[in-house]
Amino acid sequence: MERYILGISGASGQAIGLKLLRELLGRDFDVHLVISRHALPVIAQETGIQIGLDKPRDEETLRGGVSSGRLFRYREDEMEAPIASGSFKTKAMFIAPCSMKTLSAVAIGYAANLLERAADVTIKEGRKLILCPREMPFSAIHLENMLKLARIGVAVAPPVAAFYQMPKNLEDMVDFFAGKLLDSAGIENETFKRWR
Ligand SMILES: Cc1cc2nc3c(=O)[nH]c(=O)nc-3n(C[C@H](O)[C@H](O)[C@H](O)COP(=O)(O)O)c2cc1C
Repeated sequence: MERYILGISGASGQAIGLKLLRELLGRDFDVHLVISRHALPVIAQETGIQIGLDKPRDEETLRGGVSSGRLFRYREDEMEAPIASGSFKTKAMFIAPCSMKTLSAVAIGYAANLLERAADVTIKEGRKLILCPREMPFSAIHLENMLKLARIGVAVAPPVAAFYQMPKNLEDMVDFFAGKLLDSAGIENETFKRWR
């Protein structure tokens, strides 16, 4: 059973995190999910989905009709969760969307919550970390944090549209962003039409 970690932080672009979650579950993977407390109101604002800190109640909503795969959800303060330890083996970790606050914590190794700790562990264990940082515009601080992480092999994949794909709506764009994140982890997908 392949295990992936998905961190959803409080940046804009919550549909990308939810799409990624469903794509991973749909491949029958184990997904260890941390939704930061600040992401919850952004999910509500952007998708209309109300998710509480109370974990089990929301599984059906998060799955969005995908019945395969196993979902393990943690609160950001559950520092005793398995994903806080390097001895718990995982294939890769995604943070999508990734706020500038979480980006900065990951860049300096400030593991103050479970999401940040799991990212810190992913890096120290030499496993693949894929970030989808979202802000507009990026400041020099944001860019330096991204550069620092890119230099140690972290995939930095912000939600930047491919206009040649002529996306018709937000869903087309989300499919593209999620597909590119899966590509970064080496996970086969056909969520978007590839350039021939
Ligand atoms: C509607 C909304 C949209 C936001 N969008 C962004 C964003 O795109 N990028 C960002 O860095 N922060 C954004 N924020 C601010 C973060 O939520 C805030 O910095 C928070 O502390 C991030 O914490 P977290 O990384 O632990 O989730 C947004 C906040 C709200 C309420």
